[in-house]
Amino acid sequence: MKNVLVIGSTGQIGSELTMRIREMIPDGNVVAGYIKGAEPKGVLLESGPSAEADVCNGEQLLGIVKKYRIDTIYNLAALLSAVAEKKPQLAWHIQIDGLMNILEIARENGCAVFTPSSIGSFGPETPRQNTPQDTIQRPRSMYGCTKVATELLSDYYFHKYGVDTRSVRFPGLISNVTLPGGGTTDYAVEIYYAAVKGEEFVCPIAPGTFMDMMYMPDALKAAIDIMNADPSRLVHRNSFNIASMSFDPEILKAKIIEHVPGFKMRYEVDPVRQAIADSWPDKMDDSCAREEWDWAPSYDLEGMTVDMLDALKKKLL
Ligand code: SER
Repeated sequence: MKNVLVIGSTGQIGSELTMRIREMIPDGNVVAGYIKGAEPKGVLLESGPSAEADVCNGEQLLGIVKKYRIDTIYNLAALLSAVAEKKPQLAWHIQIDGLMNILEIARENGCAVFTPSSIGSFGPETPRQNTPQDTIQRPRSMYGCTKVATELLSDYYFHKYGVDTRSVRFPGLISNVTLPGGGTTDYAVEIYYAAVKGEEFVCPIAPGTFMDMMYMPDALKAAIDIMNADPSRLVHRNSFNIASMSFDPEILKAKIIEHVPGFKMRYEVDPVRQAIADSWPDKMDDSCAREEWDWAPSYDLEGMTVDMLDALKKKLL
């Protein structure tokens, strides 16, 4: 990995991943790809090259790959699960037609490609506890349909053309730099913002709904480590279960109250998000990632909560 294009560099993952890769390879070209209306600003803009990189515009992507001699593409363009339910055709266009553009360019130009999958790639028939690496995937959401198709297409390009595609199934990601937009797990980010601002949090997910969650530093480590992994050890490619913690809104609230006494939360369940959450696993088994590329998370709920509250106090107060 030397010259890298991050598509979706101003999103929740991209804004932090681009900076992390720039720190890692200071002599490389790490291009912050963006779409119109979501241009990079501040340190992201100033610390390296940026370019308009719309996944639906293959010519534009090819121009960037050639200009910067890109060897690795992080494809982070996606509509998250709740938004994708409102705009299913657009979600397919971005997530699948866009991916085809990227995979074709990768095939012709020798690029490795990371396109994240998700807990959303599973469905109601999937075993919920210790969800195996290889198991039934029959998602009911459009987000999930695109994620299963992403895994299949990425593996297809590896087996048929030798394109070096690899990825992970991210849990809900909790971070303090850029907010997610329109996901089912967003509540677990927004709750920290409310706690720091001293506001009551209105939770859209019902008590008792467990989902895998992960703190962003662990997610960044996974995204980088999988692309640097020794390929001879990889039995799987698209995509690896990775896990670090699983909780429901009550457990998260109780943890925050330990640090913010008096924090208040009430429920106003959003039926769209709740139906999606009910179809996702409670906790994935990530033993294949541990065995094949030494995956190990650093943060648990306590460690993440201390760090989130500290970072948000500095940012918001
Ligand atoms: N965080 C995503 C969502 O909630 C799942 O990968 O849509």
